[in-house]
Amino acid sequence: MSLFEKRENFDIQLNLVLDELYDLPNSLNHQNEDDLITAVIESSKSDCTKIIKDDFSNIVSDIKTIFFKSSLNTTSPTFFAYMPGGGIPMASLADFIESHLNRYFGVSMAAPYFNRIESNVIKWLGNIIGFQENCSGVLTSGGSMANFYAVCCAINRKAIYDRNVLAFYFSDQTHSCIYKALKVLGISKSQIKVINSNDNQVIEIIKLREKIISDKKEGLIPCMLIGNVGTVNSGGIDDIETLSSICRSENIWLHLDAAYGGFFNLAPSCQFQLKNMQLAESVTVDPHKSLFMPYGIGALIVRDKNDLLTTFSPEDEEDYLPDMEEFKELTNFAEMSLEMSRNCRGFKIWMCLKYYGEEVFSKALEHKRQLAIFLDQNLRQINGVNILTATTLSIVNFNYNDDETTKKLYEKITSRRKVALSSTQINRKFSIRINVLNHKTKEEHIDILLNEIKYAIGSIDG
Ligand SMILES: Cc1ncc(COP(=O)(O)O)c(C=O)c1O
Repeated sequence: MSLFEKRENFDIQLNLVLDELYDLPNSLNHQNEDDLITAVIESSKSDCTKIIKDDFSNIVSDIKTIFFKSSLNTTSPTFFAYMPGGGIPMASLADFIESHLNRYFGVSMAAPYFNRIESNVIKWLGNIIGFQENCSGVLTSGGSMANFYAVCCAINRKAIYDRNVLAFYFSDQTHSCIYKALKVLGISKSQIKVINSNDNQVIEIIKLREKIISDKKEGLIPCMLIGNVGTVNSGGIDDIETLSSICRSENIWLHLDAAYGGFFNLAPSCQFQLKNMQLAESVTVDPHKSLFMPYGIGALIVRDKNDLLTTFSPEDEEDYLPDMEEFKELTNFAEMSLEMSRNCRGFKIWMCLKYYGEEVFSKALEHKRQLAIFLDQNLRQINGVNILTATTLSIVNFNYNDDETTKKLYEKITSRRKVALSSTQINRKFSIRINVLNHKTKEEHIDILLNEIKYAIGSIDG
């Protein structure tokens, strides 16, 4: 057997994959952790954990029966937990083409056309959030890495100061990846200033201003302010304009974590809430969340390419690589991040845009937002239901009577496995959190969800 498969064989394998895996059921399989773990232990009995050579048809059959069934079905239209998404076949096809060609991507001269595509995709993403044509950025493996690079750039801007005197500001609704980034970059807890958010999960501006003033008096240098554009808990959006004016007057790097919320700027009804993102120095957006792409693609958009270049380009160029100066119009992405050898992440976005056009994404996001509003309005009709946060984008949070009853309700709904939901804490209350963010979700799926909620209420009350 050689490592290069003959075309005839490959045709057969591809068809088998399509036959078995293209139309996977929308069922949710297992959705609580205990079930998942039990399923994996079960499957290990059939040698899933040992890697033994097998027939291709058996491999595909295992993927269908074991891998698929023992995992959360995040691509199901009734998956409303965490961050649902993915499952666009055209993006999978692009991934196949891209890895089949496997062009080297770190240095522009190796694959200039791919290089151009990635740059254009970055500009398109930048334009969605209001940045000008001359914006730049880098595509990452996800939102956490994009946020990490933003923190690196902000620290690099203040490189003349001792890192130990820099201070970092953000609200208590900020995603945990920011804490991780600061930790690995050697920032101590005393330099991290977590500001309370108000009842709408938005950073308290007065508290922020007070903190900056008192920190400066103590000799700290405010370095970075991270605003949220769509918090993971509720979709809360900070007051970007005010954050930007604070940052301008205090010479602070403004970064926006718009990993979840940023692309809603494509949805006409969300644009009024999302204006001014272009006032930031950098913005994280995550195509594998609200652009429905498969996992493995996030983006950091920056106003000034030099911030990425001065942060990440090596002092000395490698002798074995071609001269990076030669192709000024192209971007050597290896000089703008920690990665060197990698694929052209933007290819799948380019392919979907080429094939579907931008409008399909706008319509899909507007549709998710309208479904979330519809859900919010219908939940309000149910006696005992309290909507806990404004439904700004696609997340709806509610509880039922009190914390204890809401927990019972949550368990009842999720145990029936017709819909997947998650939970969180909102203003110290236990909340059932619903995120309508799968491109397949339609009105009929919201009806299923409402019926499940009503049924569960009936059974716990009755
Ligand atoms: C607001 C926000 N920022 C950052 C992240 C981290 O993104 P990733 O999981 O792609 O690393 C998430 C993930 O849910 C998020 O919701």
